[in-house]
Amino acid sequence: MLTKKVEEICNRQIEREGYSSNLYLAMASWAENKGLPGIAEWFYTQSDEERMHMLKFIKYVNERGGKAVLPAFSKPPVKFKDVGEAFKEVLKHEQFVSASINEVLAMAIKENDYATSNWIQWFVNEQVEEESNAQLILDKIELAGPGGLYFLDRDIMSLRAVATQPGQA
Ligand SMILES: [Fe+2]
Ligand SMILES: [Fe+2]
Repeated sequence: MLTKKVEEICNRQIEREGYSSNLYLAMASWAENKGLPGIAEWFYTQSDEERMHMLKFIKYVNERGGKAVLPAFSKPPVKFKDVGEAFKEVLKHEQFVSASINEVLAMAIKENDYATSNWIQWFVNEQVEEESNAQLILDKIELAGPGGLYFLDRDIMSLRAVATQPGQA
């Protein structure tokens, strides 16, 4: 059974994963309206993954005798300066989420909850990937330069395929 404090911090993470999903959905919609279908698809896929993260937390909390609570989500931004700025925002957001996951782990250890400490390791590893994927795309944006947006839009999904190969996911 989860302690109250672990239950609370897991519920906080449900909100953060759900917000991440909405943030990337907003970015997908923005990119789609900008005539960037590849980048939009990358964000739609990312949004689905974040929803899956939220579901993992919901199911875990309920499975461990806690109560998962769905919060209200704050409204994500509607527009972004350009693709580079959007991905800078992704990296910043993922760094925030990594810190947040570390806090869940720290709380689990403090509460002697070794099951949660063990369970949360998947997210610790996932965050390493998330930050590295965002950085990879930022590097490509810089490499491609202002004229390279067409190619980035065309090829961005193949970067995701590489980044999620077995053993790297
Ligand atoms: Fe996530
Ligand atoms: Fe993420």
